[in-house]
Amino acid sequence: MISIVGTGRVGASIAFLCVSHGLDDVLLVNRTKEKAIGESLDVASAIPADSKFSVRGTDNYSELVGSDIVIIAASVGVYTKDRSENIDLQVKMIKGIAEKTKQYCPSAIVLIVSNPLDVLTYYFQKTSEFPRFKVIGIASSLDTSRFRYYISETLSVPQSSISNALVLGEHGDTMVPIFSGVSVGGNPLFSMIDSRDAITENVRNYWRTLRNYKSRSQFGIAKNTFDVVNAILNKKEITIPASVVLDGEYGEQNIAMGVPVKINQNGVSEIQQIKLDDTESSSLKKSSEKIRNDINSVHE
Ligand code: LAC
Repeated sequence: MISIVGTGRVGASIAFLCVSHGLDDVLLVNRTKEKAIGESLDVASAIPADSKFSVRGTDNYSELVGSDIVIIAASVGVYTKDRSENIDLQVKMIKGIAEKTKQYCPSAIVLIVSNPLDVLTYYFQKTSEFPRFKVIGIASSLDTSRFRYYISETLSVPQSSISNALVLGEHGDTMVPIFSGVSVGGNPLFSMIDSRDAITENVRNYWRTLRNYKSRSQFGIAKNTFDVVNAILNKKEITIPASVVLDGEYGEQNIAMGVPVKINQNGVSEIQQIKLDDTESSSLKKSSEKIRNDINSVHE
């Protein structure tokens, strides 16, 4: 069973993709029961005729029992300037959800989508004491989708011609697009652009740009989350950047940060160490410092 905690635009969009692709039974959990039931009734109309699965809504966390995957897309407030704006309230929320997840489905794989993403991934794992490779923050793959989009738009090339685009670090203003490994039509990206700055700024500010036109993002994050759920439940292996608690990888301990990982039906199977150029290494260090400062700024 796939349980989705938080049935706002993002949670509901994830539910729609999982249900309409007939992945598994889906449980929608919201503190407001009617919200959970309403979204479940809407999504239920997307159940394929040949599906053996269904969807339901609840405000009762005890119904998490039997969840193979728990997706957390809940939020206690809306941020406007920075994803870390409501950090204390969000951390308090994620700690409560971590306790209930530990109580009702201690062997689930947990996908964190709520912001501030890396901080919440860290606090969920520390509070639940789940194995660190069972707690995965989904966002760097979203940032990577945006990186590919801007390369495609800047060079007027199809995304299919772009290889090895990757964004690592904070899902925030210090995120690090990794240009050094990218090729376009088999040629190094660096041979086609004069500077990283414009694309980097566009990727970092994508969510702000989008909010000039709609209240918040939903489809990109939903698709990137669905891809991970699909891989886990269909026993496929995918390699994406995602936020996990580090224990020495990339020279970091005791933070969660976007790094390249392999994911299979058991969660993260490997953190991949990739080559970075000097600019990327120093940017990633700045990003890890921002995450660590945010983690330490939380008023327990
Ligand atoms: C964004 C949200 C999901 O980047 O953090 O759109």
